[in-house]
Amino acid sequence: MVFRLLLSSLLVITLFTVEAMAGSKLSTEMSVLMDSYLKEAQKQDPSIKNFSAEAGKKLFFAKRMHTKKHKERGCTTCHTSDPAKSGKTPAGKVIKPVSPAVNKDRFTTPKKVEKWFKRNCKWVLERQCTPREKGDYITFMMSL
Ligand code: HEC
Repeated sequence: MVFRLLLSSLLVITLFTVEAMAGSKLSTEMSVLMDSYLKEAQKQDPSIKNFSAEAGKKLFFAKRMHTKKHKERGCTTCHTSDPAKSGKTPAGKVIKPVSPAVNKDRFTTPKKVEKWFKRNCKWVLERQCTPREKGDYITFMMSL
């Protein structure tokens, strides 16, 4: 009896662990996208071995003066400085948390990811994010 109880609790623990591990991993589609970012990044700089969560964190928290709007902008302007919290667009629309640790829909759809990088990088940096920046950013978010 005790043995069976032990066995079933062991099974439950194992299942939870497997699930937790799966939660922090990118989907196949997203891994393909990340691989293509890395290949592109390595074309610019062959010394790049992998993406950096630290660099992604810097990008997320960086603030920059917009040359035409003359206002400081950063990813945190809309997403707040806590990725686990809901943010807001300038128009006041609520944005769900960007951290995949609390929002499992994050970084699951390459099309969505690309669409928003395109818009938001332009809004903040007045240019597109490089493949390296995108890879670093996702690596940072997945590390949370
Ligand atoms: C002007 C407001 C605003 C700023 C600034 C902003 N974002 Fe966003 N972001 C949004 C909105 C709106 C969405 C889409 C709504 C949603 O996904 O909840 C979004 C979604 C995203 C997504 C999609 C993630 C996914 O898989 O769901 C990525 C990637 C992203 N933003 C990256 C960035 C980066 C990188 C920066 C800084 C360079 C940034 N954002 C700054 C408003 C903003």
